[in-house]
Amino acid sequence: MNLHAEDDVIAPVSSGTPVAALTPAPDADRAVASRTRTFDNARLRKDFAAQDAFLYLDDFLAPEVTAQLVHSARSLLDEVNRNYLPGHKQGGSVSRHTIDRLAPFIAELYRSKELIGWLEQLSGDQLQVSPADDPHAYALYYYTRPGDHIGWHYDTSYYEGRRYTLLLGVIDESSCRLDYELHTRNPEVPDQPGSVQIPPGGLVFFDGDKLRHRITPAGPNEMRVSLTFEYVTDPNMRPWRRFLSNMKDAIAYFGFRQVFRQMASRGKDAA
Ligand SMILES: [Fe+2]
Repeated sequence: MNLHAEDDVIAPVSSGTPVAALTPAPDADRAVASRTRTFDNARLRKDFAAQDAFLYLDDFLAPEVTAQLVHSARSLLDEVNRNYLPGHKQGGSVSRHTIDRLAPFIAELYRSKELIGWLEQLSGDQLQVSPADDPHAYALYYYTRPGDHIGWHYDTSYYEGRRYTLLLGVIDESSCRLDYELHTRNPEVPDQPGSVQIPPGGLVFFDGDKLRHRITPAGPNEMRVSLTFEYVTDPNMRPWRRFLSNMKDAIAYFGFRQVFRQMASRGKDAA
């Protein structure tokens, strides 16, 4: 594979101090409930099923949550790890490990019982947070340079069960679009293409193995940041799949140091 890092594959690991929260920091559960109780949830559940496990809402998050996420995304710009995979991906990311240290509100939102309960209603599945060593559990993705994009792919589950992706719009000063194709895994239904530009506070929720999708390239002087949360129905993973998943994350997303130092420290704890 022709592969090289655009800047550095090994992520800089700073000992930065946590990003000061906007005061007062929102209560994640209360803020989520303030929105989800206003929705026609029976209708959304039907839409999700009819679109083969996919839903887009242009206005999901409470404004105070969006404001907090925008603040965090801008504050974490120095922590971004950039990667370049020719023909597939170019962009930056901040992994959960950095978020845990520097932007704990995002971790709180990820674990919000109100949020998880609402996603369970939509999907009809019991959802669990991803294991502590999965850097995709929650991550920020940055499209800040011309050509930043990610090509067509699925969010493949390396777990025993299903893997759902929740994509939240944070900053969108860009022409980037989420292009997608529904029903590609279902031979009975014709593929149905779609395309959305996700505004701050907007949501996309889907089963990663079912939705074929991409983010189109950013233009000059553009900036887009999205936040993704990953939930699973069974957090177990066979060892060889864990290895594949870690290699993919190290090369394509977060850098070897981010991915493997977590494993190393876990090994030490266990010893
Ligand atoms: Fe994806």
